[in-house]
Amino acid sequence: MEKFPGAEEWVPARGGLPKVAERLKDCRGCDLWEDAEQVVPGDGPAKARMMLVGEQPGDVEDKEGQVFVGPAGRLLDKALEAAGITRDSVYITNAVKHFRFERRGKRRIHKTPAVGHIVACGPWLAREREIVKPELVVVLGAVAARALLGTGFKVTEHRGEPVELPDGTAAVATVHPSSVVRSEEYRRDFGLFVDDLRAAGALLA
Ligand code: URA
Ligand code: SF4
Repeated sequence: MEKFPGAEEWVPARGGLPKVAERLKDCRGCDLWEDAEQVVPGDGPAKARMMLVGEQPGDVEDKEGQVFVGPAGRLLDKALEAAGITRDSVYITNAVKHFRFERRGKRRIHKTPAVGHIVACGPWLAREREIVKPELVVVLGAVAARALLGTGFKVTEHRGEPVELPDGTAAVATVHPSSVVRSEEYRRDFGLFVDDLRAAGALLA
């Protein structure tokens, strides 16, 4: 695993989400800030009962500075609505706050963050969890699962099931919405994704 200093020294011990967003801009906890356009903070009410955790910003998020506003975000919006969950009521963030990519000509191709990046960025997610104190965390895909549930957890084996984070917080893991966007069995996979979100919503009801 590539070793980075980690975000610890940039994470504010006090203050709320606006403070986190402000300090995120200075973070040099790993090397991903160098090539990205900007950092993408989480978004949503500090009092949200549900927190959704994705992987990292994509191309569109990196340009706009907002979480889940590209193709995966549109799918997530649709799925949340189908599951009866209002996007405005949930807090949405990513395991890694800068976009990792490879250049191919003019295109920027998403590259999965390394474990070193996930670990380095972990203190930001931990601080967000301290501030929001969600009753339920929805884990979107393998990178978020690595960040929140550790190495051994397989999303495909436990999707939609009630699980617990190491500190006892209730959680539900599911696939990443990007995998649904790309799916060749879109209708089936969209339906399964909505089922998982509905199962998560039911735990809060
Ligand atoms: N994928 C993510 O995991 N997060 C985003 O913000 C956008 C795409
Ligand atoms: Fe800091 Fe996370 Fe960005 Fe790395 S990805 S520089 S740890 S905010």
